[in-house]
Amino acid sequence: KIKTVRGRYILDSRGNPTVQVKIVTEGLGVGVAAAPSGASTGIHEAVEVRDGGKEYHGKGVRKAVENVNTIIAPAITGMDSRHQVEIDYKMIEIDGTENKSRLGGNAIIATSLAVAKAAASTMKIPLYYYIGGKQANILPVPMLNIINGGVHAGNKLDFQEFMIVPAGFNSFHEALRAAVETYHELKRILKEKYGPSAINVGDEGGYAPPLEKIRDALDLLVEAIKAAGYSPGEEIALALDAASSQFYNKEKKVYVVEGNELTRDQMIELYEELVGDYPIVSIEDPLYEEDYEGFAEITRRLGDKVLIVGDDLFTTNPKRLSKGIEVGAGNAILVKVNQIGTLTETMEVVRLAHIHNYRTIISHRSGETEDTTIADLAVGFNAGLIKTGAPARGERTAKYNRLLEIEEELEKPMYLGFKLFPRKP
Ligand code: PGA
Ligand code: ZN
Repeated sequence: KIKTVRGRYILDSRGNPTVQVKIVTEGLGVGVAAAPSGASTGIHEAVEVRDGGKEYHGKGVRKAVENVNTIIAPAITGMDSRHQVEIDYKMIEIDGTENKSRLGGNAIIATSLAVAKAAASTMKIPLYYYIGGKQANILPVPMLNIINGGVHAGNKLDFQEFMIVPAGFNSFHEALRAAVETYHELKRILKEKYGPSAINVGDEGGYAPPLEKIRDALDLLVEAIKAAGYSPGEEIALALDAASSQFYNKEKKVYVVEGNELTRDQMIELYEELVGDYPIVSIEDPLYEEDYEGFAEITRRLGDKVLIVGDDLFTTNPKRLSKGIEVGAGNAILVKVNQIGTLTETMEVVRLAHIHNYRTIISHRSGETEDTTIADLAVGFNAGLIKTGAPARGERTAKYNRLLEIEEELEKPMYLGFKLFPRKP
């Protein structure tokens, strides 16, 4: 039974306040979890309650913390921490809004995750095991964002994320090592070509070199993979998060890429060319977040070659994913717990995705904390894929380090590699 629920605020990786919740059970279990926070947020995401005003330039979370302590805490104290669904739906009911804007998605998700962790702690089992049981034995393939652009970096790259995907290995730790070695080669190359300021990092730990062209970023990744002694496409593939809603002009219905205005069809052609020229296995948010039709079209044209991932499109929302399934939009979903706001709904969306053969990528946010919950979720859900940034900055490496620990704990850890993608590029 839940004995105490305590909300407080801590700082995230951008130095903004965020909600942390600590739950203690009568069985002396303890669960602590914090809400992450996005920068390129989708319009259909659960809403963070922030204070406005002068404190922290309006980004304070006093109100959200107060909601935890004065509304959520009395409502769920005394409930069984294992009754996740009941607790989550209680919070949803009290909130009463479609987008969790009354209590705050930040207040609700921190509580929801803390409940699960408290239950696992009470039962003295790891969180991934509490969620997935004996079947939870798949270590996720990491998609590491090592060149940052878009709103995550101070350069002129239109696409937000340029990732390496070490899928051609037999275990998580070997894959991670190859990725880290590539990351360091990239650092050396960037420094040589563009000078020391090119190795400054963006929000997710990737470098933010002064590039303007998408192809230059992809060329650099290929060069770094080779320099590290790995084979591009065979061992390490590439992935993109265009986060295209950020450079979509709604009025004109065009995408502004490298100074050119492109129609939806021209955008799809651009992706086709890139997939033809580079060992790309996944493209996230290639089109505007409301464009189900466009997503269906690009999935028809490229879905047998790469994952077409809906992040802002689906916002981890079972209803939005259902609509996507109906029309054939995408073949993978990015899963961000705070986009929907509760663990229960996150599990619903993952189940729905798996039933319909959509791949699931468990994901961090650009604003993170030391909280490693998503590492356990990736294993617990047998998600297969994880996106948690470059192998740099503590809030990113915390997740990789937790996965290394889980890999060691598991009797038979599996690593599916390229099996998770439509093909080896
Ligand atoms: P965000 O970016 O956390 O800033 O939304 C991550 C992503 O778009 O995948
Ligand atoms: Zn994204």
